[in-house]
Amino acid sequence: MDKKIIEKYAPDPENLLFILHDIQDSKVDHYLSFNDLQEVAKYLGIPVSKVQGVATFYSMYSLEPRGKYIIRVCESAPCHVMGALDILKEFKELLGLDKIGETTKDKLFTLETSACLGVCGVAPACMINDVVYGNLTKEKIKQIIDGLRKGGSNV
Ligand code: FES
Repeated sequence: MDKKIIEKYAPDPENLLFILHDIQDSKVDHYLSFNDLQEVAKYLGIPVSKVQGVATFYSMYSLEPRGKYIIRVCESAPCHVMGALDILKEFKELLGLDKIGETTKDKLFTLETSACLGVCGVAPACMINDVVYGNLTKEKIKQIIDGLRKGGSNV
């Protein structure tokens, strides 16, 4: 982990969530290793158990390596009504995944679900890393995945 990420912030425990977020975002496998947690604890002067507790409490953090692209399919009511379950099924089929939370063997994609992404007007929607995609259809999903497999750049 690049120490400059931590040092951007004052050594104040109130910055814990931001620091964990930035570290996780900076890594191609989008997760927090135990070593990362130790470094953060040392910098903030708090027990590593506290950092670990926070990292396990919030679902946005992962302690397991994930894919280069994290796909989060919105499953809140407006997206559900507009077919989010079919969208989720299509992602699973295209990626060859059985369950939510799994990562493809090539380590390219992890499939997750999410609460409302704030773009209900274009439901059903998903977010892939920091990019939001709306009005999803089976065809559109296939195009997105094909594009990313060919080296699309929405990291
Ligand atoms: S319910 Fe899916 S974006 Fe709001």
